[in-house]
Amino acid sequence: MTAHGLTDWLEPRLASAAALARRKQAAAPGVVDRMALGIDLGTSDVVSMLVDAEARPLAVRLDWADVVRDGIVWDFFGAVRIVRQQLDALKAWAGGELPKAAVTSFPPGTDPRISINVVEAAGLDVAGVIDEPSAVAAMLRLDRAAVVDIGGGTTGIAVVDGGKVVYSGDEPTGGHHVSLALAGHHRIPLEEAEALKRDERVRRDTEVWPVVRPVFEKMAAIVQEHLRGPARGHPVDTLYLAGGSCALPGVESLFAQMFRDMRVVLPRHPLFLTPLAIAAHGISQGGTA
Ligand SMILES: Nc1ncnc2c1ncn2[C@@H]1O[C@H](COP(=O)(O)OP(=O)(O)OP(=O)(O)O)[C@@H](O)[C@H]1O
Ligand SMILES: [Mg+2]
Repeated sequence: MTAHGLTDWLEPRLASAAALARRKQAAAPGVVDRMALGIDLGTSDVVSMLVDAEARPLAVRLDWADVVRDGIVWDFFGAVRIVRQQLDALKAWAGGELPKAAVTSFPPGTDPRISINVVEAAGLDVAGVIDEPSAVAAMLRLDRAAVVDIGGGTTGIAVVDGGKVVYSGDEPTGGHHVSLALAGHHRIPLEEAEALKRDERVRRDTEVWPVVRPVFEKMAAIVQEHLRGPARGHPVDTLYLAGGSCALPGVESLFAQMFRDMRVVLPRHPLFLTPLAIAAHGISQGGTA
């Protein structure tokens, strides 16, 4: 099976997910033949995504939320409430019934039962559960590559060799630490630092990249330690970047500098890569009519 291309396959799907999340509407009302539903419970946000059999997003709902910390759902009822609201919204936008089962995920090294419990408490069956970087590797049909998912609270690393995930790890550093560095440097509240980081217009007038670069250097160094340490038996020549934190200008070129012997791939809208991969995993589990 050949890998899915970046510009012809992946980026149109990510762009469509971003547009659907922004517009808060469905791609086309009505029930599609085979659909799959994915739920990503992240440290910064909860994303529910409905896709068709070709993994094209049909409806997406993203809520910034503080229900997961260090890969653990610490506000269980808050998480369930958000997922329920998202399912109601998806149902309305999709103009019909949703699949009765969803795929959910977990950072490598954490307990998948926590996400499963949230999905079940929200009234769904669990069609599958997969660790996050592995979901990305599987969706892209990677043969030999590393996936680095820099989210809000964690950085997930997966190494694929011969089409199989042979190593995965997770580190407790992510976008939250980037915001902390910004807040500390500019002496502004954390919420303001978050907004500053995410909004291109605000960012233009304030020093951002030089302040946060050391945080990303640390993350890249940690990734190097994983690849050269426990994963050294599986050398890779391509590194895929995922996760919302990679959207910050400067991240791609920093990784390219620190991984000179590899091709570094950063798709546009990396925030939606893992949620898309989780939903796409539902297709491989059979989808739901
Ligand atoms: N345009 C942007 N520029 C910079 N950072 C961004 C941008 N958009 C989102 N982020 C950051 O990305 C992070 C959220 O990414 P993502 O949704 O991948 O994380 P998550 O899945 O919630 O967290 P985790 O995977 O660690 O549990 C937040 O820290 C957010 O500030
Ligand atoms: Mg994530």
